[in-house]
Amino acid sequence: MKKIGILTSGGDCGGLNGVVKGAAQMANSLGITPYVIPNGYAGLYNLIDCDTITALTPDRADKIDANLAGSEAGHSRVKVKKIEDPNKYERIKQGMKKFGIDGLVISGGDDSGSVMVDLFEQGIKCVHAPKTMDLDLQTYSVGGDSTVNKISLYVEELKTTAITHNRIMVLEVFGRYAGHTAFRGGVAADADCILIPEVPSDFDIVYNHMKERFFARILKSDVLAGQYMIVVAEGLKNADGSEIYDESSTPDSFGHKKLAGAAKFVCQELTKRLKADPEIKDLMKKAKMYVEKMNEIPEVRSVVPGHLVRCGHSSAYDVNFGKEAGAAGVLLLKQGITGVTVVGVDGNKVRYMESKKAIEQRHVDLNQVAIYEQMGTCFGRPVSAYKPSFEKEEGKIFRHL
Ligand code: F6P
Repeated sequence: MKKIGILTSGGDCGGLNGVVKGAAQMANSLGITPYVIPNGYAGLYNLIDCDTITALTPDRADKIDANLAGSEAGHSRVKVKKIEDPNKYERIKQGMKKFGIDGLVISGGDDSGSVMVDLFEQGIKCVHAPKTMDLDLQTYSVGGDSTVNKISLYVEELKTTAITHNRIMVLEVFGRYAGHTAFRGGVAADADCILIPEVPSDFDIVYNHMKERFFARILKSDVLAGQYMIVVAEGLKNADGSEIYDESSTPDSFGHKKLAGAAKFVCQELTKRLKADPEIKDLMKKAKMYVEKMNEIPEVRSVVPGHLVRCGHSSAYDVNFGKEAGAAGVLLLKQGITGVTVVGVDGNKVRYMESKKAIEQRHVDLNQVAIYEQMGTCFGRPVSAYKPSFEKEEGKIFRHL
C-alpha cells in the first residue's frame, strides 16, 4: 500500500474533516501518500479525466481545520451502480491506476456505504469510516453528536422568543426516517414534545399535552408567560402510519424524495384543534391574552433550520471520533482488511465490522422513548409505563447514542 484515496460522500456533517485529517496523518506517518478524491463518487468516476489530484502531504494536511464541519474532499450523492455507463467499474479502476491508488478510505452513511460495498465486491479495496448526522447505522457515525448539540442549542434559543410571545414552537430537523437526532437533541434541551418517525403521531395526544402544559406554565407564571417546545423529525408519520411530506419535493440524486413539511403539518393540526376547542377562550382570558378577533388562540409557529443542524463547527466528540475513524481506516487498509466499517478505536484495538451489516438501518429504541415518556415528555402516543430490567455489567462498557 503506497498510495490511498480519501473520499467523502452523502450529506456532509460535523467531524468529517477530522476523518480526512486523521486518515491523512496516519497515512503520512506510515509512508503512504494520501490523496483527496474530489467530489465523492462523482469524482471517483471522473478520476480518469483529472490531470492532477491533491496529495495531503503533512503540510497540506496541517491546513485542514478538523474542527470545521463539511469536508475538504467534497461530496456528491451518486450511486455508482446506477450510472448508465456499462464500463463504469473499469473506468473507476483505470482512474485509480492512473494515480497509483491502491485503496480507498470512504466516509459516508448507509447509501454511500452501500456504494462502498458495491465497489468492494467489484474488487476495489476500500474501508468505510461511518458518517451520518442521522445516526442510523449500527455503529456510531461521525456527525451525530455535532447535530444533536446544534438541535439542542436551537431549541434552547427558541425558548427565549417563544416565552416572550407565549407561543408554541415547532422545530423540524433532518434525520430522514430515523428520529435519533430529534430525540437526543430534544431531550437535551428539555423539549416538551418530540415527534419521531418511529412513533406515528396521534395529534389528539399531542394537543392535550400541549394545552395542559402550555396554559399551566402561563397561569403559574407571575408575569403570565409560557412556551411549549416541540421537536419534530422530518420523517414524521401520521397516526395511520402514512408519511407527511411536501408532495412537490423532488428526489435527490440517490433517488430519495427530499423530506419537508413536517413542522407545517404539526402547526396545522394543533391550530385546527385550538380553534375548535371551546375551553380555549376561557384559558386565554385567564392568561390575559384574549382579544376578540385579534388574539383568540395562541400561535403555533414552525422553524426549519435545515442544513444549519449539520454545518459550522463540529463537536469535540466528533473530531475525536472522526480522526480515529480516519486513522483506523488506513490501518485496516494497510493490514489488508477491507470491505469493513470502522466501529471505533479502543486503546490499541481497532474495532470493525462487515460493512453490509454496519449499514443496516438502526431506529430509535422504543424502550428508550418510554423512559422519557415516564418522565413527562410527550411522544405523540399514549404513555406506556417504563418497564426496567436490571443487569449488572462486568468489565468494559462501550455505548453510543
Ligand atoms: O442524510 C443526511 C441528511 O442530512 C438527511 O438528514 C437529510 O434528509 C438530507 O441529508 C438532506 O440532504 P441534502 O443536503 O442533499 O439536501
